[in-house]
Amino acid sequence: MRALRASVLHCVADPGEASDPRAFECFEDGLLVVEGGHVADVGPADALLSKLPSDAEIVDCSGKLIVPGFIDCHVHFPQLDIIGSFGAQLLDWLNQYAYPVEMKFADPDHARDVARAFVDELLRNGTTSALVFGTVHAHSADAIFEAANARGMRVVAGKVLMDSNCPEALRDDPESGYAESKVLIERWHGNGRLGYAITPRFALTSSREQLESAGRLASEYPDVWIHTHLAENHDEVEEIARQFPDSRSYLDVYDRYGLLRERAVFAHCLHMDDEDRSRMAGKGGAAAFCPTSNLFLGSGLFDLPAIRAAGIRCGLGTDVGGGTSLSLLATASEAYKVLHLQEHALPASRALYLATLGAAEALYLDDKIGNFETGKEADFVVLDFEGSELTARRTAAAESIEEKLFALMTLADDRNVASTWILGERATGTAS
Ligand code: GUN
Ligand code: ZN
Repeated sequence: MRALRASVLHCVADPGEASDPRAFECFEDGLLVVEGGHVADVGPADALLSKLPSDAEIVDCSGKLIVPGFIDCHVHFPQLDIIGSFGAQLLDWLNQYAYPVEMKFADPDHARDVARAFVDELLRNGTTSALVFGTVHAHSADAIFEAANARGMRVVAGKVLMDSNCPEALRDDPESGYAESKVLIERWHGNGRLGYAITPRFALTSSREQLESAGRLASEYPDVWIHTHLAENHDEVEEIARQFPDSRSYLDVYDRYGLLRERAVFAHCLHMDDEDRSRMAGKGGAAAFCPTSNLFLGSGLFDLPAIRAAGIRCGLGTDVGGGTSLSLLATASEAYKVLHLQEHALPASRALYLATLGAAEALYLDDKIGNFETGKEADFVVLDFEGSELTARRTAAAESIEEKLFALMTLADDRNVASTWILGERATGTAS
């Protein structure tokens, strides 16, 4: 048994909605108790310390802040090396930057190198779980699963399905994409903490035959994830309408092929109407809100209030390399600005929800991760208010823990991540 003493924050519901004041639970002088890799207890230190067995290890992180490990609902590991590429909107950006860098993954050694660097970068930023795109190459999925497994991380990933409107070197076909995905599902889904996502890139790069075979796979494996992009960019949406004139909307294309269901996660969801939103909610699909990408690629502004009012599950995604940071704190800060542009607010408590419990709900993993309820897996981050001179000054001037969290969300970088813990064991950094 191990107990960490620090300020402890977590969400038990969406603080943006719930009237329950416990939606955002805060223990200023708190204790997080872990045993066998799971949460044994959380609460005020003075009440819990006296109940601990005498041989329990106490890790003193006083003055720091413990929150649940961040969960990235949408990210492309192969795009690590093109993050921050100048100038283009989505369709040009894919051709100029994303496809060329993904071609390098024909080499399995390159895929393994990037996968290792990627998961280490996640941990450095306090991210303990993610839903991850590979490339079209089956071994790209092997590479990310091996790297995550070596670090004990809960990761869901998949090989991309794409057979049209893209470079020849990045195409599979409906049969090979189906067969390779099936092998990967059998190899990795439910293997330790890993899960498989059927990953059609987006409806523009899959033939009808491929969408149909992806839907067949989804019906054969109802507990695997589905991961794709939806309604990100105006030109993309117009092209979808041209290519699928018989569908009422972009979402309808996926729905017709059986790709809208529980455990289906759609990145972006910017250009949707009320009917789409209520259909997505009714079928249990989830939205990944990717603000740094949406601003960087000039795609549009995510309407969080409309998404949540419809009852859609939602978490934050970094969408690197269209997104500009692997930090979910930095991503939350851009989410705040995206909502501000639409005359809404995003309190730090709700931002924390979107990066933890909300993301776990979007991934249907909230029985396992996302907060510190007893029995959940003990993935967490120790944040250091004093990681930089500026954050030390700003947080010292704050009057509440929520104000300090907001300051971190606005100002923090990886200097403020003191350590990241997987199943109760330190994965990076120093303890206190
Ligand atoms: N839509 C299809 N592929 C991609 C991708 O790689 N990144 C983003 N942001 N959108 C996409
Ligand atoms: Zn993406």
